[in-house]
Amino acid sequence: MAKERLIRENWGTRVGFILAAIGSAVGLGNIWRFPGVAYENGGGAFLVPYLVALLTAGIPLLVMEFTIGRRFKGSAPVAYRRLNKNLEFVGWWQVAICIVIAAYYAVIIAWAAMYAFFAIGQTWGDDPATYLFVDFLGNGNVDASALAFSDFGEWVPNLTLVLAAVWVVTLLVIGAGVRKGIENTAKIFIPLLVVLFGVLVVQALTLDGATDGLNAFFTPDWDRLTDSTVWVSAYGQIFFSLSVGFGIMVTYASYLKRKSDLTTSAFTVGLANSSFELLAGIGVFSVLGFMALQSGTPIDEQVSTGVGLAFVAFPAIINTLPYAAGLFGVLFFASLVIAGFTSLVSIVQVPVAAFEDRFGVNRLKGTIFVGGTIALLSIVLFPATNGLMLLDTADGFINSYGIAVAALVSIVSVVWIAWKWADLRENANRTSIFKIGWVWLACLGLVTPLILGWMLFDNIRATIDNEAGVDSATLIYGWTLAGSALVLGVLAALILRRKDVPVLVDEAEVPGEATLTSGKEETQ
Ligand code: ALA
Repeated sequence: MAKERLIRENWGTRVGFILAAIGSAVGLGNIWRFPGVAYENGGGAFLVPYLVALLTAGIPLLVMEFTIGRRFKGSAPVAYRRLNKNLEFVGWWQVAICIVIAAYYAVIIAWAAMYAFFAIGQTWGDDPATYLFVDFLGNGNVDASALAFSDFGEWVPNLTLVLAAVWVVTLLVIGAGVRKGIENTAKIFIPLLVVLFGVLVVQALTLDGATDGLNAFFTPDWDRLTDSTVWVSAYGQIFFSLSVGFGIMVTYASYLKRKSDLTTSAFTVGLANSSFELLAGIGVFSVLGFMALQSGTPIDEQVSTGVGLAFVAFPAIINTLPYAAGLFGVLFFASLVIAGFTSLVSIVQVPVAAFEDRFGVNRLKGTIFVGGTIALLSIVLFPATNGLMLLDTADGFINSYGIAVAALVSIVSVVWIAWKWADLRENANRTSIFKIGWVWLACLGLVTPLILGWMLFDNIRATIDNEAGVDSATLIYGWTLAGSALVLGVLAALILRRKDVPVLVDEAEVPGEATLTSGKEETQ
């Protein structure tokens, strides 16, 4: 029987690809996660493991993923299978991780979109915590820790509608294709984000107390460096924030033309992402310093991570701003929406592209069936009264035991088991101005597996011993999520072991058919 032939799109321009990759990297992880995670893990001292993780793991892994994507021309499962037939499971594992992340990530964007409107008149009133938990989320209790899994059952109607809208727009962008949808969105949203966030940070730096906030952020607590949790958090943060380890950059690079530069693009994306992350830290801590001064309480009492920081601490701060409070609030939440949206698109593209490439379905069907299923999952599970706790736990577990472990497994498999490092290095160097050599290999093949491997081992031991005293329902839910991503990955690869990959052709390499869109099917 004739094999299916699928023509895949290419990025329109190199800048378009870099902006799309930055759009994926710069996301909620930079604004919503980084400042709090950094502070929780030793403030200024966190910058040491953070930089070690960025330079020895983040950027080398980004180069590896860009090269795998472009060299093997396919979304994650296809690219890993072509690299080595036994590695298809890595790609499907990453697809499963993306499904989990997309499901909760979209909800935070929906919250932020609603809060951008609330910010205009500070609808949250004098007590943003009560507003968030009782009025907005409809809990009877303002204490988030009092929420239990058994509390599930009620959707928050407005939030559900906004979440549905987030999903419709996301699927429209993905359905419009790599160039018209993803690339064009990034070209508009990334410059806009830089301007909005730049204004926000400048305004934050002018506040009284900003210097105290920055001192708290940059003053190291060196003792924390011996704690494996701090290191795993740094690696987890770098992987999540750079969008590496869960298939995104492999998928995005698969739409590159064969002659594109890889290493310079990887450095540009890595540095842009970390610069934005530090800028977010500076902005957030300036504001926290202001709040501490106003309330006369220490900065560490202002800091909370994730949800608490964005949706409780920030509204409280906005209430007390001396001028342009509404504008500040709108800028902050709009930045969250924009940064989050371009990342969400990239996360959902991983499963959609995987199904397109592996089963030969066209883009429209892929977007509707795969994207639609994830949207449903997200709408059913998270915009609920206890969605906050489900989301926090999912985020913690999927980062530490999903992304970080999958990243480590992909590195060890590619470098040590499939022994593909020389092939990838040669392929990257052939078209890149900046050449990679033994430093890249040493980071990827030795430093990262040793540090990350040991830290993960210690961290998993501590979680199994339950040193942090987490309740068993949360542990079961967290481990089930992280574990099932791996199990699904292995099962999918086993089931598909004998099924051939359709013939995938770059549109740039089909003479006279340069205007075809991805997913056009033919038989040969
Ligand atoms: N890289 C994306 C973020 O930082 C997923 O949020």
